[in-house]
Amino acid sequence: MQITFPDYIKNEKLKDWITEIAHLTRPENIHFCDGSQEEYDTLCDNLVKSGTFTRLNPEKRPNSYLALSDPGDVARVEDRTFICSRRKSNAGPTNNWVDPDEMKQTLNKLFDGCMQGRTMYVIPFSMGPLGSPISQIGIEISDSAYVVVNMRIMTRMGKEIYKYLDDDGAFVPCVHSVGVPLKPGQKDVHWPCNPDNKYIVHFPMERSIWSFGSGYGGNALLGKKCFALRIASVMARDEGWLAEHMLILGVESPDGEKTYVAAAFPSACGKTNFAMLIPPKGFDGWKVTTVGDDIAWIKLGPDGNLYAINPEAGFFGVAPGTSYDSNPNAMETIKENTIFTNVAMTPDGDVWWEDMTKEPPKELIDWQGNKWTPDSDKPASHPNARFTAPARQCPSIDEKWEDPSGVPISAFIFGGRRSETVPLVFQSINWNFGVYMASTMGSETTAAAAGAIGNVRRDPMAMLPFLGYHMADYFNHWLQFGRMIPNPSRVFFVNWFRKDKDGKFLWPGFGENMRVLKWIVERVRGKAYAIESPLGWMPRYEDMEWSGLESFTEEDFTELMTVDREKWKQEVISHDELFVGKLYDKLPKEFIHIRELLLSSLWRTPEKWGLAPEDIPT
Ligand code: OXD
Ligand code: MN
Repeated sequence: MQITFPDYIKNEKLKDWITEIAHLTRPENIHFCDGSQEEYDTLCDNLVKSGTFTRLNPEKRPNSYLALSDPGDVARVEDRTFICSRRKSNAGPTNNWVDPDEMKQTLNKLFDGCMQGRTMYVIPFSMGPLGSPISQIGIEISDSAYVVVNMRIMTRMGKEIYKYLDDDGAFVPCVHSVGVPLKPGQKDVHWPCNPDNKYIVHFPMERSIWSFGSGYGGNALLGKKCFALRIASVMARDEGWLAEHMLILGVESPDGEKTYVAAAFPSACGKTNFAMLIPPKGFDGWKVTTVGDDIAWIKLGPDGNLYAINPEAGFFGVAPGTSYDSNPNAMETIKENTIFTNVAMTPDGDVWWEDMTKEPPKELIDWQGNKWTPDSDKPASHPNARFTAPARQCPSIDEKWEDPSGVPISAFIFGGRRSETVPLVFQSINWNFGVYMASTMGSETTAAAAGAIGNVRRDPMAMLPFLGYHMADYFNHWLQFGRMIPNPSRVFFVNWFRKDKDGKFLWPGFGENMRVLKWIVERVRGKAYAIESPLGWMPRYEDMEWSGLESFTEEDFTELMTVDREKWKQEVISHDELFVGKLYDKLPKEFIHIRELLLSSLWRTPEKWGLAPEDIPT
């Protein structure tokens, strides 16, 4: 196959690689994406013609489309995700590992001729603002036009990227195929994917990504979880920075002072809602701005402060549950120029999903293309249905969200989903203790899900499915990173999900998270009071803002903040299931001592720390 390269591609290594992949996969055509609006519109038109897209009603959702996937291709496939480092011990016990040579043989067979009858797209993209010293460049080769148009929203995609690759500039090669070659004359299906073979493979040594068999989300849009987290975490370890599963937001106080924080929550804990928070009643003059909702790349700046960028350019948000009640900013963001996947369609050509409105429409086409009414016993949209929308359309987008230097990060926030034990908020006494606690964060599982320990699935720093190397080496990297920072950012922990004895949530809801955020920001600025607890610094009732939420009493707060000594002893003992059971050989020495210190201080704590003295049983 003779390839005619556009003259703006000058990098010989890149040309060789494209040639090699074309020879292996044998596509019918090659299309070099330029990232233009015309190209986007043409590809979307083609996707409408081929049945992958339905154009939504332009009056209701201008320039927006709906895609319905194959029912077997609806989410990331963690059990088919591999970290192929040279040695198994480099991937660690929390990742799937296959010897890289063996995996290459497998992939070579799978990719041999896998693009026959299809167009191979060459997609140049930057993770992060163009030209930022924190940004990185990737080239994705894919046989999916759906991937191209999503990548144009989720990344900075276009031919200007090649300027940064002149001569021998480095890029992360990403190869993706839906894994369904077409025979001459064979008609394509609306969502091609391979039912038998799915492989999401990372080679950390050569910093490359190969994805086969799926066309969905993080399996196929390789800039996101594969590059910006799994491969970038390896780069970050080697180069002394952080690639984290964190949202970034700014908090502006009435006096105009701005504080940026980065926050990690496991998947499905409301990260997008938190990133786009609108301060509730009682917070006149306060503003929350959004830099990112999923990933943060963080480097130490020349002034000794930490600076973060959002490597993405769009939001790939979970649709169900998103509404004008839960997240008005997200609803405004997805008004136009948006791709919806696996949501339901209304008779007038708009979209709908569970909890978008209090009353469901009387009639819908569900995510599998069938007629749906409110009596149907299945949801109308898939629980992992998504919107892909440009970040710049978000009303709360921060003025510095594309600043090449990033935004200064003053605090890290970590939060899991815990119905008991973990209080609403506390501040770590120092960086190392914060790293320890963040590495033990977790979420309760309803059933005994894969990887669950007891009924808590430990998800260190919310990175469990997204780390490209050994988890304990990652803890060491965090500790080492802290040693480099002259004035380390403060570390906080939150838990919105604690329940009372009747199983009711104690915290009144996401909209009120601003109260916690305000205390955090004021702590950072040295303006908020805190008392010492066995876990670190905690606000008293009077240290937080309650105006506008009179129904929430001091007793409610006390219940939400109580540290139950016996539960915490159990909690700390259960940390060992991860630390000793899985990670012991590489666990930082500091952790052993921090754990002992925590245990011994709990022994000396009242049975229920935080209760008013008169409540403590004598
Ligand atoms: C996501 C995830 O989609 O964390 O962002 O799963
Ligand atoms: Mn995520």
